[in-house]
Amino acid sequence: MNQTPAPITRGSLVRNWISLTGAVIAVASFFAFLLLFTLDFFAEHGNPYMGILAYAVAPMFLVLGLLLIGLGYWIQRRQVQKATVGALPPLAVRIDLSRPRDRKILGVFITGSVIFLFITAVGSYQTYHFTESVQFCGKSCHTPMDPEFITSQHSPHARVDCVACHVGSGAGAYVKTKISGMRQLYHVVRNDFKRPIRVTLDKLRPARETCEQCHWPQKFTGGYERVFHHYLADEKNTQFSVRLLVNVGGGNPLRGPVGGIHWHMNIANKIEYAAVDDQQRVIPWVRHTDANGVVTEYVNSDFKGDLSKLQKRTMDCLDCHNRPSHNFLSPNEAVDISLESGRLDPKVPWLKSKVVDALVQSYSTQPEALKKIDEALRKTYANNPKINSIVAETQSIYKNNFFPEMKADWRSYPDHLSHKEWDGCFRCHDGKHKAVDSKATGATAMIKADCKACHLILAQGDNEQMTKLNAAGYDFVHIDSEYSDFSCAECHTGANPKN
Ligand code: HEC
Ligand code: HEC
Ligand code: HEC
Ligand code: HEC
Ligand code: HEC
Ligand code: HEC
Repeated sequence: MNQTPAPITRGSLVRNWISLTGAVIAVASFFAFLLLFTLDFFAEHGNPYMGILAYAVAPMFLVLGLLLIGLGYWIQRRQVQKATVGALPPLAVRIDLSRPRDRKILGVFITGSVIFLFITAVGSYQTYHFTESVQFCGKSCHTPMDPEFITSQHSPHARVDCVACHVGSGAGAYVKTKISGMRQLYHVVRNDFKRPIRVTLDKLRPARETCEQCHWPQKFTGGYERVFHHYLADEKNTQFSVRLLVNVGGGNPLRGPVGGIHWHMNIANKIEYAAVDDQQRVIPWVRHTDANGVVTEYVNSDFKGDLSKLQKRTMDCLDCHNRPSHNFLSPNEAVDISLESGRLDPKVPWLKSKVVDALVQSYSTQPEALKKIDEALRKTYANNPKINSIVAETQSIYKNNFFPEMKADWRSYPDHLSHKEWDGCFRCHDGKHKAVDSKATGATAMIKADCKACHLILAQGDNEQMTKLNAAGYDFVHIDSEYSDFSCAECHTGANPKN
């Protein structure tokens, strides 16, 4: 202990473990930044992770490194000061701009910082854009988002960014989503997220801030023609099509007669309802307030529970268009489309029925499904020259609409826009929702349940019958089986219909 201590300088004060660690981190992250920046700059397609690493993580470590150098210096200084009271000059940085050396250092420092900040700002902006893109939302964490990404790619909104419907605009919305994104990432890493993934309507941004930014609710649509091509599950794959004039109408008196399906637009009328479940599949209570403030309440007399316990919601676009982007086609629909477009040949006996059957079995992984579909169809159609294309098309339907790893397919997500495979409109328009006020008569005594209120059947049947149009609308002729009006979904489950 009788050594003469080395003179204390700034340099010696940073020679401690904390500062040295800081220096190593700072230098390393600076070079990492340069490298990542160069890669990102010259890469043909930016990679979001490269962006996040380059413009968020590397600078963060650089700052951390610099802070550690300072921290080490400060701790060391305090210790030295305690040991040799008053031996150190007060901590002060003196910049004297009249000294050329100071001017030079300051100049280099400012220029360096500006360039660095500029690069990180531009980079962060690009990264921000990237984290808002369909590529990022849909593809960064494959398995969990595959079902929604792939189905959205064959929807009318294929070119609409995920964030236009899921995030909305504004910095608040962005930050909120990224925080929830980190929580989701945590669950992805731990692999403990729920399958299938679900969002309830109350967690989605209101339609006003999403759909209505692009679609004008005041628009008057009038009639909208749709043809549904079907093939029966019989030996001949008999064709049965329905041509509908869908009465979409409008909801704004300034743009056209208020009426039809878009009467529900909440412009001249407001509809509130209460549902039993969080997918809104069972709706026992409905309240309509018209433009003059006249209120009519409807209750489904079959409902035995306590209405006051149910969550209420005001109807908006999403109560009908709840699958605008993620259409998981039911096997019945998907196979009809393939037959209609000729990718499956309707002349192959029993094809509709067999392909639907192969698709609906429960499989636990995609490879297993593709293999078993192949085996099943090759067994049935061993001698058919078209067997390879039958297998390929069936597998392609499967890959686009079934995601066993995520338990996601048409069964997981009801579609409320129609009433054939899910109750949809018939959740309210089923002939059972009666006005509570017994004085209500005529049109308001019951929520409408007349087939012609929503659409006219212009033609139906096989190819030949489809040419015989009836402008006043046919009554529906349902194959040859009996059916009761408002329970289509009981038999039409999306698989082969039950008798
Ligand atoms: C046109 C609007 C729209 C776009 C674009 C959109 N979504 Fe959705 N998404 C919705 C709606 C509406 C729901 C809720 C559906 C429901 O309640 O049945 C939803 C639900 C989801 C769900 C929950 C699971 C499910 O299928 O219900 C996930 C996950 C999801 N979206 C991810 C994405 C991703 C990833 C993208 C971009 C590739 C995207 N979404 C694009 C409207 C959209
Ligand atoms: C960023 C703009 C944008 C947003 C947000 C958006 N849409 Fe669309 N939507 C479009 C475009 C563009 C089309 C037309 C696509 C085409 O014709 O190919 C379309 C088409 C549609 C159609 C017609 C589909 C068909 O079968 O032709 C419906 C219904 C629809 N959107 C509903 C919605 C609903 C409901 C929401 C909110 C969940 C929504 N859209 C959000 C841009 C948007
Ligand atoms: C009692 C059960 C039952 C009810 C209820 C029922 N259907 Fe059907 N439906 C069938 C059967 C069985 C077939 C013949 C299917 C086949 O051979 O592929 C069929 C065929 C059809 C087809 C043509 C083939 C197809 O798969 O799309 C349409 C369209 C159809 N029904 C519409 C409806 C509508 C709309 C309702 C409600 C208004 C309804 N059905 C109610 C049992 C039913
Ligand atoms: C009561 C159910 C219901 C509500 C609520 C509803 N729609 Fe529709 N909408 C339909 C039906 C049914 C169709 C026609 C069938 C189809 O598209 O297959 C349709 C058609 C459309 C179309 C295509 C026709 C066109 O005008 O280009 C768009 C776009 C659309 N709706 C957007 C919206 C938006 C946006 C909202 C909310 C402001 C909304 N809808 C609310 C049921 C509804
Ligand atoms: C939450 C309950 C509810 C759902 C779901 C619902 N509606 Fe309605 N709808 C009503 C009520 C209430 C009225 C007003 C009473 C009436 O006129 O029957 C109405 C009225 C209508 C009208 C008559 C408008 C006019 O001209 O007076 C049409 C058409 C219509 N709905 C179509 C549909 C279609 C199509 C769907 C499914 C895509 C649907 N609704 C889903 C509650 C509902
Ligand atoms: C509250 C409105 C409403 C009522 C009432 C209604 N429908 Fe529909 N129907 C719809 C809508 C909406 C669609 C789907 C249209 C679309 O996707 O564009 C549809 C589709 C259909 C289809 C075609 C389905 C397919 O996939 O081939 C048939 C057939 C049909 N309806 C028959 C009937 C019959 C029969 C009745 C009377 C018992 C009836 N509908 C009552 C709204 C209604």
